[in-house]
Amino acid sequence: MPALSARIYRPTKRNIGFLAARLRAGNLVAVPTETVYGLAADALSADACAGIFKAKGRPVTDPLIVHIVRLEQLDELAVVNAAALRLAREFWPGPLTMVLPKRPIVPDIVTAGGDSVAVRMPAHRLFRNLLRKTGLPLAAPSANPFGYVSPTSAEHVKDNLGSKIRFILDGGPASIGLESTIVDLRNPKRPALLRPGAITASDLARVLRRPIIVRAPASRSSTEPQLAPGLLARHYSPRTPVTLHTTIAEMANRHPNEAYVFIRKPAGLKSPNCHGFDPRGKLAGVAHSLFATLRRLDRAGYRRLHIELAPGHEGLAPAINDRLRRAAAR
Ligand code: TXA
Ligand code: MG
Repeated sequence: MPALSARIYRPTKRNIGFLAARLRAGNLVAVPTETVYGLAADALSADACAGIFKAKGRPVTDPLIVHIVRLEQLDELAVVNAAALRLAREFWPGPLTMVLPKRPIVPDIVTAGGDSVAVRMPAHRLFRNLLRKTGLPLAAPSANPFGYVSPTSAEHVKDNLGSKIRFILDGGPASIGLESTIVDLRNPKRPALLRPGAITASDLARVLRRPIIVRAPASRSSTEPQLAPGLLARHYSPRTPVTLHTTIAEMANRHPNEAYVFIRKPAGLKSPNCHGFDPRGKLAGVAHSLFATLRRLDRAGYRRLHIELAPGHEGLAPAINDRLRRAAAR
């Protein structure tokens, strides 16, 4: 098949109408969300969803997240329980994905043949517009080749998938910059965190008024059995080897052809191979720039990236460090 050529569409009313029609016709459209860019297709069409796996080089054992814009759509796709409704009321629209028993309408390819479906109601205005215009639930994984760093801008999508897809909707940089929190609610009495994100385990515990089962941080092994293959340790990885450190202050700048990435770069450190995620060391800023920084440094020709972990265990720290550990896993 000849290579396609992706075009980035400005978010005009006319373009959104056009892209909604493409989605209804079974095409793939890369879409902005508040977390990362997604590669969307009609979630009720097995053929359309098969295209997602093909474009991403994603194994069909890795299930997709289905996006909705109205709460009634949740009921159509999944068997809802009180815990899910409580979380939906509190955190939707927003960066929270819930795993629930699926209904037969959801094609097997979306759930990797499993009996549960992951559903999220995104907050991004343009994506919500598209969801409303199509009237469909839209399956959308992150719009990156399988295993590579997630995209947080339309240009990132074009860089990676420019020859595999035709349509990219530009919604500017993703405001949060990390993928959604995923919570398993199949058993509402035993809610489990499958992926940390901007909505934290303690946020979920507060609303559900019960403890959340939290998995151990991503292990280095990619051979042990995984609940969901997308939760493999090696994920989100740049091509350049990554080494993580609690602090890099003492070692910074030791090798000129290796990069040193601080959470907050100390003032006065001017070497071109020293970088910082956020000028004030704010974790929201670190999350926002994390993937763009990894992508930029991955292209800069360094032999190795030394990266500082986010301090503490509160707020965005577990989500940031989860992505960093996956980036470092080999
Ligand atoms: O923020 C996000 O969630 C973004 C945007 C586009 O919404 N999407 C995203 O999708 O990160 P993806 O495919 O890169 O990650 C989805 C994760 C995968 O790790 C997959 O294994 C897991 O969700 N997942 C999907 N369905 C599941 C299910 N039924 N049970 C357990 N995990 C599931
Ligand atoms: Mg992904």
